Amino acid sequence: MPSYVITGASRGLGFEFLRQLSEDPAAVVIGLVRNKDATEKRVSSEIGRSNIHILHGDLEDYKSLKKAAEDTAKITGGSLDYLIANGAFISGKSGFLTFNDLADDPEGLEEDLLKSFKTNVVGNIHLFNYFLPLIRKGEAKKVISISTGIADYDLVRDIELDTSGAYTTSKAALNLAVVEYHAQFHNEGILFFSISPGVVATDGQNVATDNKSEKELENSQKMFGKFAKYAPHFKGPITPEESVKLVMKVIYNASLERGDGGSFVSHLGTRQWL
Ligand SMILES: NC(=O)c1ccc[n+]([C@@H]2O[C@H](COP(=O)([O-])OP(=O)(O)OC[C@H]3O[C@@H](n4cnc5c(N)ncnc54)[C@H](OP(=O)(O)O)[C@@H]3O)[C@@H](O)[C@H]2O)c1
Repeated sequence: MPSYVITGASRGLGFEFLRQLSEDPAAVVIGLVRNKDATEKRVSSEIGRSNIHILHGDLEDYKSLKKAAEDTAKITGGSLDYLIANGAFISGKSGFLTFNDLADDPEGLEEDLLKSFKTNVVGNIHLFNYFLPLIRKGEAKKVISISTGIADYDLVRDIELDTSGAYTTSKAALNLAVVEYHAQFHNEGILFFSISPGVVATDGQNVATDNKSEKELENSQKMFGKFAKYAPHFKGPITPEESVKLVMKVIYNASLERGDGGSFVSHLGTRQWL
């Protein structure tokens, strides 16, 4: 009876994890969301399976994460197999602007950076801490951080990506935090690692491109141009369904024995991000 907790399960990839993982009637699938009632309604109308449980969990509020871990323990009997840290703040403000483009808006820049770090780094560190006792008692013992290819130093340097800095630096910081958790807990047989889901057609994708200035649209075209150069086969975003299938395959295959602890790979299970 595998058990899963997925954060940011209200929409996008998180909702698709709920859908695919609950296909196994023996699985217990728990989604953490900020809007419990709305997500429960959506789950019941679009998926309608009784093995899905929705709990309140806001990455900006560690008390809600502590309570979610307590409530998860009541559902699962105290253990957890897979923790999928999927929820994230994907900044629209700096999506296609550089740090320096925001030099004349220091307050906005600071707000953007602090929110990105509070949600994507601090929030996930609290999440890992509160759920660790459950993971210790689980069978699979896997903690997965959903990262992004544009948090990979080599890729950013190679394609000269200069935008989305609040988001990319917060995800890079999270990657490093995951490595530190790996350093501390691999001896207990717990696998921590980071995985990028590819470029996926979700709100998270659109937030960066909707309602943009001319400069941002120009920068966005430049970025997709750089992606095309990096991966000439890249034709555009994949669907959440495709992404989650590939990501779960990587998650199920990954193990400490194979050397995956603390690693950072793509939905393809490699360092090819697109
Ligand atoms: N889509 C892509 O192309 C892509 C590429 C690379 C990496 N990723 C990563 O994949 C993951 C899922 O992205 P997505 O595309 O599905 O994004 P999305 O559609 O924007 O969904 C983001 C999810 O995160 C939740 N969230 C935001 N702030 C939160 C907070 N403070 N506490 C708890 N949950 C919060 C949102 O909940 P609300 O509904 O309450 O806002 C939503 O469920 C993210 O980690 C993202 O960085 C996505």
